Amino acid sequence: MEEKKTIFSGVQPSGTPSIGNYLGAIKNMSAMQDGYRSIYCIVDMHAISVRQEPAELREKTMKLLALYLACGIDPAKSVIFVQSHVSAHAELAWVLNTLTYVGELNRMTQYKDKIAKHSDNINAGLLNYPILMASDILLYNTDIVPVGQDQKQHLELSRTLAERFNSRYSPTFTVPEPFIPKVGAKIMSLSEPTKKMSKSDENENAFISMTDDEATIMRKLKRAVTDSDTEIKYTSSKPGVSNLLTIYSLCEGITIKQAEERFCGCGYEELKEKTAESVIKILKPIQQRQKEILLDKEYMRVVLTEGAQKAENIARKTLSKVYRKVGFVSRT
Ligand code: AMP
Ligand code: TRP
Repeated sequence: MEEKKTIFSGVQPSGTPSIGNYLGAIKNMSAMQDGYRSIYCIVDMHAISVRQEPAELREKTMKLLALYLACGIDPAKSVIFVQSHVSAHAELAWVLNTLTYVGELNRMTQYKDKIAKHSDNINAGLLNYPILMASDILLYNTDIVPVGQDQKQHLELSRTLAERFNSRYSPTFTVPEPFIPKVGAKIMSLSEPTKKMSKSDENENAFISMTDDEATIMRKLKRAVTDSDTEIKYTSSKPGVSNLLTIYSLCEGITIKQAEERFCGCGYEELKEKTAESVIKILKPIQQRQKEILLDKEYMRVVLTEGAQKAENIARKTLSKVYRKVGFVSRT
């Protein structure tokens, strides 16, 4: 039997995940778990690169775990764990730091965006963030990384570091490929549809959070910015309408073309209302399951303990290999 390929992905427990996170990443993480050896992480160490309130970080970590489970990520099929539980992530990151040029980090667009946004806290963690991400991925000999479009540049750096280590020492790491969905890789802001939908947007009307209730979803979508024309068509000159068509088609499980056909001759009001209804249809059962899971603290604890153990077993092996190759003396 052919061995399954490995997929790895992570989401930060900061903010409340948006439908952008869901449609761009979490949905695929859930869909892909049957065909692959899948490892899914809650990257709390990445989250502290911007200031977090400790009690809130703890709460958001558990909420994200419950969301993973509610979205169908199944601990019987996937390894689910919290990054800070497996110390090999920080340890490999140090080794990879010594292989990364500062110039490579300075070029990262997410870093540039973040230092502009958090000008009062330009800490070294923000700069080194993509090295920790490479460490997450490379520890598990990952073949494929399902992410949204915004992570493509970080993935490129992970590939570069894997190749650099392999050529400087000897073949060690699998060079990972990104899996970026053709539709949904970049869900746009509802109020500025040329910008990415971000869960940390100051304007709450710009994104739909995974925990928004029906009335809020309807209100936000009804206020979504479109344009002064009336035609419902997927085209770059209509970013607002195209974004709604994208969201609608993903929630309905149909193509963009089929969505355009459904709305042929309709007005924007109808597009917005129908999109809201299809988002509600997807989110309602997820929200219900997430609530139930959050009540079962013992279950969540078991999932995390077992997940950390499984992740640790794989990660330790890779880290030992790396330590040996760079010339560290063995402890035993
Ligand atoms: P983060 O919230 O930054 O931890 O992102 C978690 C995952 O969601 C990553 O794979 C991102 O690429 C993806 N993602 C974030 N925002 C969007 C968006 N607006 N559209 C599609 N994917 C997104
Ligand atoms: N940097 C990713 C984000 O902000 C989260 C992340 C951390 C990640 N480590 C990862 C994603 C490894 C994929 C694989 O969205």
